[in-house]
Amino acid sequence: MSSRLRILVVGSGGREHTLVWKIAQSPRAEKIYCAPGNAGIAQQAECVDISVLDLPALADFAAQEKIDLTVAGPEAPLAAGIVDVFHERGLRIFGPTRAAAVLESSKAWSKDFFSRHDLPSGFFATFDVPAHAIAYLDTQTYPVAVKADGLAAGKGVTIAHTREEAIEAITDSLVRGVFGESGRRVVIEEFLQGQEVSMMAISDGEHLYALPASQDHKQVFDGDTGPNTGGMGCYSPVPLFPEEMYEHTLEDILKPTIAAMAAEGRPFVGCLYAGMMLTSEGPKLLEYNCRFGDPEAQVVFPTMKGDLVDLLEAAIEGDLPAAESGQNGAAVCVVMASGGYPGEYDTGKLIDGLDGLADRDDVVVFHAASKETDEGLVTAGGRVLGVTGLGDSLSDAISTAYEAVDQISFEGAHCRRDIGRRAAGGQ
Ligand code: AMP
Ligand code: GLY
Repeated sequence: MSSRLRILVVGSGGREHTLVWKIAQSPRAEKIYCAPGNAGIAQQAECVDISVLDLPALADFAAQEKIDLTVAGPEAPLAAGIVDVFHERGLRIFGPTRAAAVLESSKAWSKDFFSRHDLPSGFFATFDVPAHAIAYLDTQTYPVAVKADGLAAGKGVTIAHTREEAIEAITDSLVRGVFGESGRRVVIEEFLQGQEVSMMAISDGEHLYALPASQDHKQVFDGDTGPNTGGMGCYSPVPLFPEEMYEHTLEDILKPTIAAMAAEGRPFVGCLYAGMMLTSEGPKLLEYNCRFGDPEAQVVFPTMKGDLVDLLEAAIEGDLPAAESGQNGAAVCVVMASGGYPGEYDTGKLIDGLDGLADRDDVVVFHAASKETDEGLVTAGGRVLGVTGLGDSLSDAISTAYEAVDQISFEGAHCRRDIGRRAAGGQ
């Protein structure tokens, strides 16, 4: 396995920029394409204008361009069956089949799976009849989590603090159809108290190559306040998730999950991403995702050891080394978002200050939504940039990340000022 590969990354966000950046470091990468990509990605890959959900066009492109390895970034094409479409055409792709991606695409299915296999998680029940869901609330204490069953871009979960809020969330999903098909069923789940941690591992369906743990900051404002977002920043390593807890999670949660998926006839090849709450009883699963995290990738890829191309290929070939990547130093990613995000926002704002950072080897600016125009580089979405600072310790990485953020500007830009701070203080 030493040939050089033509590689296609599917997606257009910060995670995909990070994938391209990490793949570009591999001596195995001959040529990298990204569909559809963004202006930052275009600096390292050739971007092709194909939507992530146009599966036949993606497969046609991979066949025509003799792509050796495709990596699907986001969940939507995986849930839609991109891996199955590629396999039918004899094309090599990293990611779970549609049958295995159900681990993320249906919360009701995955919660039942956790129960069948005794995987630690909160108590829950699933409903499609509003009156039954509302009657069940009488057995619950508050807060309680009300979740749309299907994919809802991180917006399908309500932490209801009162019965009224829970009824509102149930009604939104089951009656008003706010989440469309994704919300035709709801899961009502016990509220788990604690801090969240993300742990990702690459799987070949049998073995796991475990990556460093990280912690996302989902709420928009400092101190974990305000509405949820796609993720405002991330850091790694996570001091409150020490070595023995990492080992316990790998041995007693992730490995049994991979074995159970195989036993159920849905072998999971891809990135298994466990979103967990660190409760007083130990880590409990909030959910699995079936792809790399965003912005988790932005701190994990720059610090993990190992050649990502070798690992992705080994996963596809079924000969992944069962190992842990280990980690070099620490990383903190601060997301710079458009004014108004996660609500309404404008795009097309000029981005300044990136040139001065291009030569730094302790700063990487990952683009989540940017566009090149005649006037220059402009914003093109809610989360615009993920500014990753690297350092020997979390405190160093935090200083570096914010020093870089302070050199970048666009009208209305906002970011959290406390990414990683609690963890660094606890070191
Ligand atoms: P999920 O999409 O299931 O990961 O939920 C999104 C977010 O909602 C999580 O990252 C948590 O912050 C929160 N959440 C989900 N379920 C629970 C729960 N049972 N207890 C506490 N917080 C939860
Ligand atoms: N950081 C959350 C996610 O990737 O789903």
